[in-house]
Amino acid sequence: MTGRARPARRRAGDPWAALAVAALWPLAAGSAPAAAPFTVVGTAIPQSLTGVAGDAARGRAIVVSRQRGACLLCHAGPFPDEPGQGDLAPSLAGVGARLDAGELRLRLVLPQRINPQTVMPSYQRVDGLQRVGSAWRGKPLLSAQDVEDVIALLVTLRD
Ligand code: HEC
Repeated sequence: MTGRARPARRRAGDPWAALAVAALWPLAAGSAPAAAPFTVVGTAIPQSLTGVAGDAARGRAIVVSRQRGACLLCHAGPFPDEPGQGDLAPSLAGVGARLDAGELRLRLVLPQRINPQTVMPSYQRVDGLQRVGSAWRGKPLLSAQDVEDVIALLVTLRD
């Protein structure tokens, strides 16, 4: 593109444009996990990404795994067998009493919507991101069902 940018034009990096794309992104059938479509309502994504109930035991395995969720790099939580938990973020203890499933879903899918400066990664977003290693480009960090499994665990962490 050439010429001067017109002042009224929306910038290409507009986060809301990226959000609209993410929300309309179709599930790529039969390929590597793609980001699921979602709708943000207020401070939550009320609807399940998959329509399949999450499995809290699988969610726990994802949260404590250093390769998958890697949540404990930043968070501590009620996981007494896990050494070296993070202190960069609030403890996940009691998070299920503070936030409901829809709020937890937004936190995992689009944490920038809650805090634009957050260091917490978006576990579902695949576009509009910067500083993404080539191995991860075009792939969400977790599948939509993984996110539902993590939420199923988090809602049980009530004290
Ligand atoms: C790179 C660091 C980092 C990683 C990794 C991370 N988070 Fe976070 N998370 C944060 C920070 C920092 C906050 C505090 C609010 C903010 O800055 O957005 C937060 C906030 C949250 C909250 C809201 C807590 C509250 O009490 O309001 C939840 C829930 C959460 N994270 C869950 C997770 C889960 C589950 C994972 C793994 C799948 C994860 N986070 C991975 C940094 C991280």
